Formats: sequence, C-alpha cells, structure tokens
Amino acid sequence: MPLRQLLEEVRAKPLPQHVAIIMDGNGRWAKARGLPRSEGHRQGSATAERIVRFVAQERLFPYLTVFAFSTENWDRPKSELDFLFALLEEFARTRLEELRQSGVELRILGDLAPFPPSLQEALRAAVEASRGGRNLVFTVALNFGGRWDVLTAARRAMALAQAGKLAPEELTLERFRALLPGGALPDPDLLIRTGGHQRLSNFFLFEAAYTEFYFTPTLWPDFTEEELLLALKDFQSRTRNFGKVGA
Ligand code: FPP
Repeated sequence: MPLRQLLEEVRAKPLPQHVAIIMDGNGRWAKARGLPRSEGHRQGSATAERIVRFVAQERLFPYLTVFAFSTENWDRPKSELDFLFALLEEFARTRLEELRQSGVELRILGDLAPFPPSLQEALRAAVEASRGGRNLVFTVALNFGGRWDVLTAARRAMALAQAGKLAPEELTLERFRALLPGGALPDPDLLIRTGGHQRLSNFFLFEAAYTEFYFTPTLWPDFTEEELLLALKDFQSRTRNFGKVGA
C-alpha cells in the first residue's frame, strides 16, 4: 500500500500521544553484512533521524522517545562506547538544526554525568536550542533504566520526607509519578521494539503499566516510515480498557 494511503488510514482513527521505541538490532544488521558493529550504529542513527523527521513533519503524534543507551550498555567494549558517544555528539552538533526546522524539541532522559564532558555540553546546547519546537517532543533516553527511574523517585521522596515536606500517607501514586524522571512525559501508549526480542530490557517500568507493545523482527537500521504506520494501525485495532471492564 502506498505510504500516503497508509497515512490517510492511520489519520482517520485516534493516534497515540506518546510512542516509545527500543531501537534494537544494529549489531546484527552490521554482522549480516560483514561490517563492524559501529556501521550498524551509524545506520541506526540515520534511521532514528529519518523517523523523527517523518513524525514531526507529518505531526503524527506529539511525543516520541527512543532508548539510545541503557544503564546496562556500559558493559560494551570501550571502542563501541566511544563510537556511540561520537555519533550522539555529531547528532547533537550537526543534525539538530535540521530537526529544529522540522519543529522538534529535543529532551534527554537519564543521568548524563558519566558521559564525556564534550557530549554533555553538546546535548545541553542542543536541548536549549530546540526548546519550543512545536511539532514533536523527541526524547532520547540516555543512561536511562526503568529501575534507575523508580529508584530516583524513591530517593527524591525520601529527601522530601527528611526535610519534613512529605508524610508517608501524602505519597500518592500521582505524587510519586511526578517525582519520576520519566514522569515529565505522558505515559507511553505504544512501545515498539525492533530486532525480534520480546522484552522490556529495563526501559519504562512504572510508566508502561498500560502501554501496548509492538514487536517486530525488523532490525532497527531497516525500520521504515511504512512499518511505523503499520505499528500505529495495529495499535488502533486494539481495545484498551486499562484494567476496567471493556465496552
Ligand atoms: C541496539 O542495538 C542499539 C543501541 C544500543 C544503540 C542505539 C543507538 C543509536 C541508534 C544511535 C543514536 C541515536 C540517535 C538518537 C541519533 P544492538 O547493538 O544491541 O544490536 P544487536 O542486538 O543486534 O547486537
């Protein structure tokens, strides 16, 4: 089906507010071509840019979050880490202007402190420069983990309690949610994972309580605008009752 027709079909039904993506399969994409893993990440980065531009230009939905680096990814070889950091820095320094013109507001979710200072600076500058983008809030989860997210909220609650600003019975779900670093975004409605594995890998935990999952064997560098629209169509075919009795 041509992309335009698919777009029209998808637009005819309610769309999600927030889509989150686990971009898996860069390494396998490269291996299948006899290339170094870094080439998979380079292609993966190009795919991320293409998808972000498409979502922003078509104003498909207002929040897109990608899992670019998890709290567990530090265990990779130093050469691969250095390459990923360089790729992210290049993205922040050179591609941002183009995305800004597409109305993209960049946000970072995660603890940036362990990253090289030049990467931290480039990301902060990019976040600052893109503030106010009207078409899409694009969040890159970096050194993020669902358990870190919940632990950070718990620490924040303890600090408030110690300061005498929060009693145990005042810590409601809404208050706790507001203390989560990931709580600044609406809960993801749809989570797409490429690369064939069907697991959450410590991405959003608290926020994904009622998220719909879409798993595809497509490796991230091969993911297309068309497949994103097919994932949205699949989402639109589901009945969400959030634990209540359905219609
Ligand atoms: C998973 O593939 C991918 C990553 C750990 C890195 C994702 C990063 C990017 C796509 C680049 C930066 C993104 C932006 C926003 C510009 P894998 O290496 O685990 O693949 P494998 O499972 O096949 O080994």
